[in-house]
Amino acid sequence: MVACRVCGEDIRPFMSFGQMPIANGFLKPDEFEGEYFFELAPAFCDSCKMFQIIEQPEAQAMFHENYAFFSSTSKFMQAHFKEFADQITEAFLHDQASPFVVELGSNDGIMLRNFAAGGTHHLGVEPSANVAEVARQNGVDTISTFFGEAAAKEIADQHGKASAILAANVMCHIPNIHDVARGVRALLADNGVFVFEDPYLGDMIEKTSYDQIYDEHVFIFSALSVSDAFARQGLELIDVQPQTTHGGSMRYTLAPRGSRTVSPAVTALFEKERSLGLHRPGTYDGFRENCEASRDQLMTLLNRLRDDGKRVVGYGATSKSTTTINYCGISPDHVEFISDTTPIKQGKSTPGAHIPVKPHDAFSQSPPDYALLFAWNHQREIMANELEYTDAGGKWITYVPKVEIFP
Ligand code: TYD
Ligand code: ZN
Repeated sequence: MVACRVCGEDIRPFMSFGQMPIANGFLKPDEFEGEYFFELAPAFCDSCKMFQIIEQPEAQAMFHENYAFFSSTSKFMQAHFKEFADQITEAFLHDQASPFVVELGSNDGIMLRNFAAGGTHHLGVEPSANVAEVARQNGVDTISTFFGEAAAKEIADQHGKASAILAANVMCHIPNIHDVARGVRALLADNGVFVFEDPYLGDMIEKTSYDQIYDEHVFIFSALSVSDAFARQGLELIDVQPQTTHGGSMRYTLAPRGSRTVSPAVTALFEKERSLGLHRPGTYDGFRENCEASRDQLMTLLNRLRDDGKRVVGYGATSKSTTTINYCGISPDHVEFISDTTPIKQGKSTPGAHIPVKPHDAFSQSPPDYALLFAWNHQREIMANELEYTDAGGKWITYVPKVEIFP
C-alpha cells in the first residue's frame, strides 16, 4: 500500500508489469551490467480518480544530458505542433500587446519555434541538457532545469507573468503534480491559460495500449483526474479536445478558477468517462485481463514465426516498446533488430531485452518477412513511407488495439 500522489489516500497496484528498465535507456554492451531496473506497477485511486504508477525512478535517471528522445523526428508531429501553436495564438494571444509564452518540457523546440518565428516572447524549460541545446541552436530561447514553484518564481521575476503556459507529453512525467500546479499558478497571468496534452486514459483503456505505461509516464490522465488534481491549486478545467497523437491524447485547457467560462465539452467528457467506467476500480481489473490476453496472443504469434524461421524486425524503438518487449518477453530470438531513425539510439541495444537498434538502411536493404510495428502511433505516416516494402509482400504486425497481421 502506498499514498496516492495526488490526494494521499491509500492505494494499491491492480497489476504488475514486472521488473522494468528505463524506457529510453538505450545502452551499449559494456553497460549491460549494472542496468537499472524497477517494478512497474500501476494503481488507480478510487478517491481522486488518478491512474498512476507507484514507483518511478529518479528524474535524473530518465532526463539527463544523453536523453534519447527528440520530438522533431516525425513530420506529422511537426505539423501537429504548428497547429497547436496556431490555435493558442488565435484563441488567447492575438488581442494581447506583448504576450509571453512558456513551454514546459519544450524538448528540441518543436512547438516553440512556431512562436519564435513570429517574434513572440517565449521561453522553453527543458531539463535534458542535450535536447535543450538543440532547441537553442534552432533559435528557441530555452533554459535547462526542472519546472516547479521555485523555477516558476524565478522565471516570473525575470520575464514577467505568462499569457500561456503550454506542455505536451510532459505533465504526465512529473510526479509532484502539486509543485508544478503551484508553479503554473505563480507564473500565469490572471487572464492566462495553461494548456497541456498527454496520452489519454480513455484511449488506453479502450485500445488496451498498455505500452503507454512506462517509467516516464507516472500518470495517465483523464478529464476527471485532471479536474480534481488542479482544482486543488485553484486551476479550473475549462476545455478539452481529443487528439490523435501518441495513439490518442487529450488537450486540457485550465485557467484560474472563475476567470473563464467552462466549455460544455468538459461536462460531456466527464459523462463519457463515467459511461466508460474510468471512475470505477473494476474497470482496471478488466484492463489487466486485456493486457494478459494481448501479451499471450502476441507471444503465440512471435513464437510461431520464430519456429517457422521467419525474419521479424521491429519498426521504431519507441519508449513504449520497452514495456511491450519486457512485459511480453520478446527477445533477440524473436526480433532480429529494431529499425529507428534517431541517431542517438542507433548502434545501441534496447533496455532490458537488449535487441540491437539499427538505422533505417538496415531495414530497407534487407527487408524482413514481418515488421513489428512498435511505433503503432505513427502507423499512417509509416505506411505511406513504406509502400515499397508492403507492395513487395512485406507483412506488418501490430498489437494495438489488437494483435494482428496486415495487409
Ligand atoms: P514516439 O512516437 O515518440 O513514441 P514514444 O513516446 O513511445 O517514444 O517514437 C517514435 C520512434 O519511432 C522514434 O524513436 C522515431 C521512430 N520512427 C522511425 O524510426 N521511423 C518513422 O518513420 C517514425 C515516424 C518514427
Ligand atoms: Zn488520489
